[in-house]
Amino acid sequence: MRRSVLAGVGGYLPDRILTNTELAGRVETSDEWITERTGIRQRHIAADDQKTSDLAIHAARAALANARMDASEIDLIVLATATPDLTFPATAARVQAALGITQGAAFDIQAVCSGFIFALATADNSLVRGQAKNALVIGAETFSRILDWTDRGTCVLFGDGAGAVVLRAEDVNDGRGVIATFLRTDGRHHDLLYVDGGPSQTQTVGHLRMIGNAVFRQAVEHISGAMIEACRLGNVSLDDIDWFVPHQANQRILDGVARRLQISPDKIITTVARHGNTSAASVPLALNTGVSDGRVKAGDLVLMEALGGGLTWGAALVRL
Ligand code: UT7
Repeated sequence: MRRSVLAGVGGYLPDRILTNTELAGRVETSDEWITERTGIRQRHIAADDQKTSDLAIHAARAALANARMDASEIDLIVLATATPDLTFPATAARVQAALGITQGAAFDIQAVCSGFIFALATADNSLVRGQAKNALVIGAETFSRILDWTDRGTCVLFGDGAGAVVLRAEDVNDGRGVIATFLRTDGRHHDLLYVDGGPSQTQTVGHLRMIGNAVFRQAVEHISGAMIEACRLGNVSLDDIDWFVPHQANQRILDGVARRLQISPDKIITTVARHGNTSAASVPLALNTGVSDGRVKAGDLVLMEALGGGLTWGAALVRL
């Protein structure tokens, strides 16, 4: 059976760490409020001269090294971001050039915090159809650039970073690879989480705006539904899953989903305390954390999920 096998994973976080206490010196908030309401203790912030593509290139190189593959073998790059270097060309094009890749296609996907799941599904479809052999799937963001640093309701939540996986098309008979993906968008909620700028509407970059508690109310229900749907499509039960690798928006969302689906917290990879919400980068960064520290191993059944602006949400079931 032709499958997209996860051959490698990598991540990159900028050096600069911004703590809750530092933020409390900028806006009316406290370490206690942020920790209790979100679980976030710190986030990484890109240097002034670091672009989203720079973060993506670091993560892509790490994933290639982990896969023991050369960049020249890659013939597809799908990069998920809501914070591209420029309006166009795609940030993926810059990543392709920096890696010295001169074949195949490279393009961006825009599904905000769900972007990595959408990118993974897109790359998987190409690989299974035989359009490409080896894909880099990247989630990379510099949300620090679009935050309103005077809005305590949003500026404390997000961080910068990038994560990447290498997918390799293989004929497998041992169940490895991407088993199922499930994607959803409900555009009726486009104004719950958005950026108030853009080339067509305001000709400005704009700032992130969110009605946080309204997004929160949607999150637990849709994420739980997507996880159940991906399991149904993959013909497995939630009990079969070895590791849950969720989007890291808020510890209370992770706890709510775990309670609803009766998942043991020991099976959930959690990075929200150290990374904050890195949007499209959060799922591959969490996967990289679990693989690097030895918890997530070859043969494990992994369920990833995310929800973000759009609203978009989805889940991906993969056997490593
Ligand atoms: O990744 C994309 C998807 N995004 C998400 O999933 C985010 C979902 N939403 C959330 O995580 C939560 O809604 C937040 C963390 C954003 C907010 O938590 P909440 O418990 O829903 O708080 P709230 O928005 O209902 O606000 C409660 C209070 C308000 O004060 P009043 O009106 O009750 O006096 C806010 O002004 O908390 C206040 N508040 C803050 N206080 C101190 C909001 N932000 C802060 C802050 N520090 N940083």
